[in-house]
Amino acid sequence: MFKKFNAKQVLEDVNFDIRPGETLGLCGKSGSGKTTVGRCIVGLEIPDSGEILFGGVDHLSKGKMGSSIMGTGIQMIFQHPETSLDPRMKGLDSIIEPLKIHNKCTREQMYDKAMELADMVGLSMEHLNRYPSQLSGGEIQRIVLARILSIEPQLIVADEPTSMLDVSVQAQVMRLMQRIQEEKGISYLLISHDIELLYQVCDRIAYLEAGRIVKMEEI
Ligand SMILES: Nc1ncnc2c1ncn2[C@@H]1O[C@H](COP(=O)(O)OP(=O)(O)OP(=O)(O)O)[C@@H](O)[C@H]1O
Ligand SMILES: [Mg+2]
Repeated sequence: MFKKFNAKQVLEDVNFDIRPGETLGLCGKSGSGKTTVGRCIVGLEIPDSGEILFGGVDHLSKGKMGSSIMGTGIQMIFQHPETSLDPRMKGLDSIIEPLKIHNKCTREQMYDKAMELADMVGLSMEHLNRYPSQLSGGEIQRIVLARILSIEPQLIVADEPTSMLDVSVQAQVMRLMQRIQEEKGISYLLISHDIELLYQVCDRIAYLEAGRIVKMEEI
């Protein structure tokens, strides 16, 4: 895919695949275009040209920016935990909201499903009763994960999901993501400038330099 912002060519012939169940790392310097790649994949940006194939279907051909993301099985985790959740919603409601939107289950099943998801990400009822401002960054990323998992995605684009967390919590959240991947077979595109982290958790690493993939490394 190709993408320009104003006159600046930000992505230049970026071309790669993500295999089922794998973790593909995407690394590169600040400004190299990592977030833009992720946003294009989930449909938050539209590339100027190119295809994004998901299950054999070009999801750009649906045309409407952002509209198909929630339904397509591709979800994104953003870098800043505090901006990922509605500050007026308690944790439980944040987890239940996508279940409501996508009619994934009946009203009675929603609560049980939310509790099951909370349990999966290691949160208690006490956490679910709090607003984002009353939760730590790590706890918020867990709620974000539970919320995303409720839609049963096949691919999660995780844009620096732990870079705002301190080192010990970083490791906890990464372990949790790995455990969930083993259980559910989800693919991850893990965006990070932390090469050590990528070496620990990825199957392959793609290196982005000034909007081009310059190397693809099998780990
Ligand atoms: N909406 C936008 N409008 C104009 N320019 C943009 C927009 N989004 C990104 N850019 C520019 O595109 C380039 C790539 O940005 P991007 O956020 O993808 O980089 P990144 O690799 O994720 O960087 P970082 O590691 O700092 O997060 C930057 O020069 C940025 O200023
Ligand atoms: Mg970025």
